[in-house]
Amino acid sequence: MNAQPRRVEHQQTDKGSVPVYTTAVVEQPWSTYKTEDHATWATLFRRQREILENRAAREFLDNQRKFGMTPDAIPKFDDLNKVLRKATGWELIGVEGLLPELTFFDHLANRRFPVTWWLRRPDQIDYISEPDLFHDLFGHVPLLLNPVFADYMEAYGCGGVKAHGIGAEALSTLTRLYWYTVEFGLIKQDDGLRIYGSGIVSSKGESIHCLESPAPNRLGFDLERIMRTRYRIDTYQKTYFVIDSYEQLMKATEPDFTPIYTRLAKQESIPAGQILQADKVYHQGTGEGWANDGDV
Ligand code: PHE
Ligand code: FE
Repeated sequence: MNAQPRRVEHQQTDKGSVPVYTTAVVEQPWSTYKTEDHATWATLFRRQREILENRAAREFLDNQRKFGMTPDAIPKFDDLNKVLRKATGWELIGVEGLLPELTFFDHLANRRFPVTWWLRRPDQIDYISEPDLFHDLFGHVPLLLNPVFADYMEAYGCGGVKAHGIGAEALSTLTRLYWYTVEFGLIKQDDGLRIYGSGIVSSKGESIHCLESPAPNRLGFDLERIMRTRYRIDTYQKTYFVIDSYEQLMKATEPDFTPIYTRLAKQESIPAGQILQADKVYHQGTGEGWANDGDV
């Protein structure tokens, strides 16, 4: 048996029915990981490092090395924290899994990044519908070493607390930004488009699909456009948004979003695969294989 998460209940959200765990911060029970868990980590780590070599943002790959992440064993949060605290003042905290939104925002606003302590089972190696240790640690943690991205994540947490106070519509508008940047973002490097989104780097199939498939759109980052765009939770994305730099992300999100939420509330949302006149188009998707419904 591998280490098991402790679920408490299911909650209906805009992302469907999701398991919610205890909101408590938990000590990473490192000694309870079995040989099988470490082997799963090794398999996933090796496989993704190979796929991501010329696909992930250079910095993402470099930072994994700076953290000392290797296939040899599941990293210890304490070890990563020694590097992280010194670099950007962020800290990883262990959690059972997805947190209620406000709890999650509050952690980010205080430069604490929640990491699920348990790892997927071997039969879930290619796909798991909820974040596990591999997604959180391999996918999210590396860019927390980047000072600008680290600031962006804190600002997002503060923005989340604020949006939560404004209402459900503001919150889902803000969630789209997280989705299309932190989870599924692409960045333009000198040598071409690269991945920085955690949802992509932790997925074998989407790491290739997002850059090489003719099906999806690849469009330039545009804050309000993204905040109006619906997305996919059960298939690869129909559209990826490309930033020029993390500074661009930081700068674009500096203004107070309150008037933006008010303005966008009066506008229609945009289907996940749609291209607009004003879009900066890196690639217009063929739409091959797209499901007609299911954008959230
Ligand atoms: N500027 C945003 C606000 O006022 C906060 C924010 C920053 C949101 C960065 C997302 C990312 O709500
Ligand atoms: Fe994530």
